[in-house]
Formats: sequence, C-alpha cells, structure tokens
Amino acid sequence: MSVKIIQITDLHLNKSKELVVNGVNTYNSANSVLDRIKEDESDADCMILSGDLSNDYSRESYNNLMMLLKDFKLPIYLMSGNHDSPALLKELSNTNNLHFTNFNAFNNWGVFMFNTKKENSPNGILREYELQCFDAVLHNSLYENIIVFLHHHPVLIGSTSMDTMVIENADLLINRIKNSEKIRAVCWGHVHTEYYQTIGSVELFSTPSTCYQAKERSEKFIIDDAALPAYRKIVLNSDGSINTEVFRIS
Ligand SMILES: [Fe+2]
Repeated sequence: MSVKIIQITDLHLNKSKELVVNGVNTYNSANSVLDRIKEDESDADCMILSGDLSNDYSRESYNNLMMLLKDFKLPIYLMSGNHDSPALLKELSNTNNLHFTNFNAFNNWGVFMFNTKKENSPNGILREYELQCFDAVLHNSLYENIIVFLHHHPVLIGSTSMDTMVIENADLLINRIKNSEKIRAVCWGHVHTEYYQTIGSVELFSTPSTCYQAKERSEKFIIDDAALPAYRKIVLNSDGSINTEVFRIS
C-alpha cells in the first residue's frame, strides 16, 4: 500500500493578510495553492509544512495559518523554519489534526522531520538530540524505508546567497545517507526553487515556495517573477521506491 504526502513550504504569512512580500501577497498565494490541493489531492494521507510558515514570528500570522488550514481534516505536520517561532508552532499542535513532532510512521516507512532552525541565525543546524532519535529510527527494524524532511538544504545548490545558509553540520546527515541502506529520500524548502540531485540511489530535492520564487543558480537573492507558486506530491511505495512531482499554480 502506498502513502501519499503533500509537501508545502515557505508560506511566509504575516500579521496582515494584505502584506505583499517580494511582489506577492503571501496569504492569497498560499490560499490558492491550498485550494488546488483541496481539489486535486483529496486522497492524500498527510500534509507536511516544511517551515517558514510565518514571515514575522507573530501570533497573528499563525492565526492566519489556522484560517488557511481550517477545512483540512487530514493529519498536518508543522515544521519550523528560520522565520518561525517553535514555541507558537508547539501551541498550534495541541489543536485538532496539527502535529509538531519529529517522527511518524506510515506502514513500513518512517518519516523523520528535523528542526533545522538555528537560534538568532538564518542558517540551518542539526541537533545532537535529534540525530540520536534519527539513529534510533534507522536502527529500528519496523521501518524498512526512511524519508527525511528538513527546512534548510543539506547540500550546496549553486546559489551563492542561499548557500551561506546551508545546514552547517550537514555532513552528519550526508554520512548517514551514504552509510544507511534505508534512507530513500531527503527533501526540504527554504531555497524557494526546485532542486534535484542524488547521492547513490538516495534522491535529494527541494520544493518551491507557496509564494515568491528565487532565481536558480544566482549569486544574489533575485526574485524569479516567471516561476509560479507550487506544492509537491510524494508517493511512498511499499517496495521502497518513491514517485514525486511538483505542481505549479497559475
Ligand atoms: Fe527559510
């Protein structure tokens, strides 16, 4: 039996629903993406929001997120980005179908969600405690296949400004990718572009934002007005293979 995950990322919601960031009303843009998911992905098993759900850390921005998610009944996993307040995300997770946790299992798949937010920095970091939890999952025979979600990127993507914010100790994850026979895929947000590479047979990819997009492989952070907001569908198959696709919303 396969499991269908919808990933959305980098909503950058604000206190005001009217605020335009980098030329995009982030609330309306996230709303359009979620409307499409409601229409086209009603059979999804869960949704993962991989960080930068807020843009300004405000309680109101998370109230706006709740408004956007109110019609969804499926389990929703919230992750922290550098623009988020983990304390407020934890509060939200006490309500209904919203979860703020590192791990969940679906059949023979383990889904591990790292909190890569580094305090007072836009950079990413892996914490020793979470790596220990991750190792316990890797060594648990219940989970034959593992997919990892991050906010920050674990590999350089060829964009100078973005690459300054790469997970500082990503080698701790890369070593595990190279040495584990269970890790099938690693995906993240933060970079506001689609990116793909492999390490051996492990697939690594980013998902575009639900709002503004960045020009790929550029020295500075430049908005790519031609690139549309998006979400990603990830299907985890029981044989350990995955199918994934990015859908752009016009
Ligand atoms: Fe970010």
